[in-house]
Amino acid sequence: MDTDNWITAVLALRKAERIVVFTGAGISASSGIPTFRDTDGFWNRFPPEQFATWDGLLKTALTRPHQVAEFVLNVVAPIAKAHANAAHRAVSRIERHTTTTVVTQNVDGLHQAAGSTHVHEIHGSLLEVIDTSTQQVIKRFQRDELIRISETLEKYTHKKISLVSFLWELRQCFPFDWRGRHRPNLILFGDALAEPAWTEACQAADQCDLLLTVGTSAAVYPAAMLPDRASKAGATTITIDPHVRGECWLQGNSETILPKLVSDAFGPAD
Ligand code: APR
Repeated sequence: MDTDNWITAVLALRKAERIVVFTGAGISASSGIPTFRDTDGFWNRFPPEQFATWDGLLKTALTRPHQVAEFVLNVVAPIAKAHANAAHRAVSRIERHTTTTVVTQNVDGLHQAAGSTHVHEIHGSLLEVIDTSTQQVIKRFQRDELIRISETLEKYTHKKISLVSFLWELRQCFPFDWRGRHRPNLILFGDALAEPAWTEACQAADQCDLLLTVGTSAAVYPAAMLPDRASKAGATTITIDPHVRGECWLQGNSETILPKLVSDAFGPAD
């Protein structure tokens, strides 16, 4: 670990008056949720062109429904069973000291589970169902409902139940509608980012004096432009990641680095 960067980060965290914490899949890795582009990542197992767009999912569902069920199972099951980790808790601790906005690319709801109250989910949330005609959230899942959905998916992907029984069982925990307007509140490739989350995230980046980037490959735009946007607006930027470099890079895992950084800045956790 670069000592100069560590001292810079501790002092910046202590001095900051408005903080943005910008997170990606890496912050949830130690909660058991795979990332997308690491060696065991989602996109290495499920080609994005088939699974990361609504059209791709529909085409795959019409020809190989079991594969879509398996993909959805691989998305839902880890999130259903996940708990917030020490990094999520450290982020919520920052909020108790300084005005803090979390902007996350993750859809797992773990920042809120850890106690963060000002969270912008710019890629949506797996815990929500929206009506695509109104863009309104029509249902919010509890994690145990997600567990029931993943158990149904498990039965189907292992071909223990027919497609009709699968859809009937899924129907009992997912608010289908015959016009197909209800779907998970997820932003896939080609979709516009979630609003007003994205507009508010940009405003927060423009107004903050410190932006912490945690656990993202910064491979997907426009989300990845946030650190640069904050830096151009005069903010200090810090990057926490084991592999991806950035301004004031603190190399390592967020579940190890963030709790120590927050303790060094604000004192030991109570
Ligand atoms: N702590 C911190 N960072 C970690 C950890 C960890 N324990 N483990 C892995 N990382 C880092 C990796 O080094 C990598 O930089 O997390 C990052 C994960 O990158 P991606 O898998 O690309 O995930 P993310 O950056 O969130 O992807 C952005 O792309 O496919 C879309 O919608 C998807 O929201 C996602 C977006």
